[in-house]
Amino acid sequence: MEMSQNEKLDAARYIEADQAHVWHHLMQHQSFAGKGPMIAVEGKGLRITDINGREFLDATSGGVWCVNVGYGRDRIADAVCKQMKKMPYYAASGGNLPYIEFAERLTAYMPGLTRVYISNSGSEANEKAYKMIRALAHIKNRPEKKKVLYRDRDYHGTTIAALSSSGQQERKEWFGPFVPGFVQFPHACCYRCAFNKTYPGCDLDCAKAVETTILQEGPETVGGLIVEPITAGGGVIPPVAEYYQVVAEICRRDGVLLI
Ligand SMILES: Cc1ncc(COP(=O)(O)O)c(C=O)c1O
Repeated sequence: MEMSQNEKLDAARYIEADQAHVWHHLMQHQSFAGKGPMIAVEGKGLRITDINGREFLDATSGGVWCVNVGYGRDRIADAVCKQMKKMPYYAASGGNLPYIEFAERLTAYMPGLTRVYISNSGSEANEKAYKMIRALAHIKNRPEKKKVLYRDRDYHGTTIAALSSSGQQERKEWFGPFVPGFVQFPHACCYRCAFNKTYPGCDLDCAKAVETTILQEGPETVGGLIVEPITAGGGVIPPVAEYYQVVAEICRRDGVLLI
């Protein structure tokens, strides 16, 4: 994209202001020294244009994999604009039409599940799930059944409880102390089997380790178990086909909710 002299001056001003006032997550600020970060200005489909007029093919979907529908989608922008003007927000203490419509459509894909709670982020969704488990323990008069098991290598978010339940040491290093009540169990990565075995002769020890962990902790203290269906940030690890059937069966038996 060709830039005018004014736009070029503007770019320098924005980069300077960015360096002075913006806190960039995930990055060392010193890596921007002298040049500033890439400042995205416009997007269409898979392509983005930065403040200097350079065009990129964005293989990171917004830097953190969350613009999967692509940039510049008029249909989505128009629908959001229309709703913002009509009724931008009303808390779930009451109701609002888009929430109801979305919940109705989503539950059609979730056999056996009937209700939807919408949160602002993955971390917050997991925090909510942990609170549900604790609330349930309270309501059902099983005050100890509040622990949540999580799997080595899985990631569940950046807030302190979500990080407390994440199995990635390098992400946790600086941020303790963590929330009590979260217990790790072994990962399900065949390539580096935690039990030094080879599938299918392994007897699914990684799935059975869930049972061992529950028994070690005491089933009366374990209320939930959280997993990334396919571990992503800790290496892309799809467990073997039978893994989740075994884990789900153990959870059912011990009254542990699978998140
Ligand atoms: C599996 C999983 N859970 C939770 C999160 C946290 O989501 P958010 O960054 O929206 O808080 C992520 C984010 O990458 C994730 O991949």
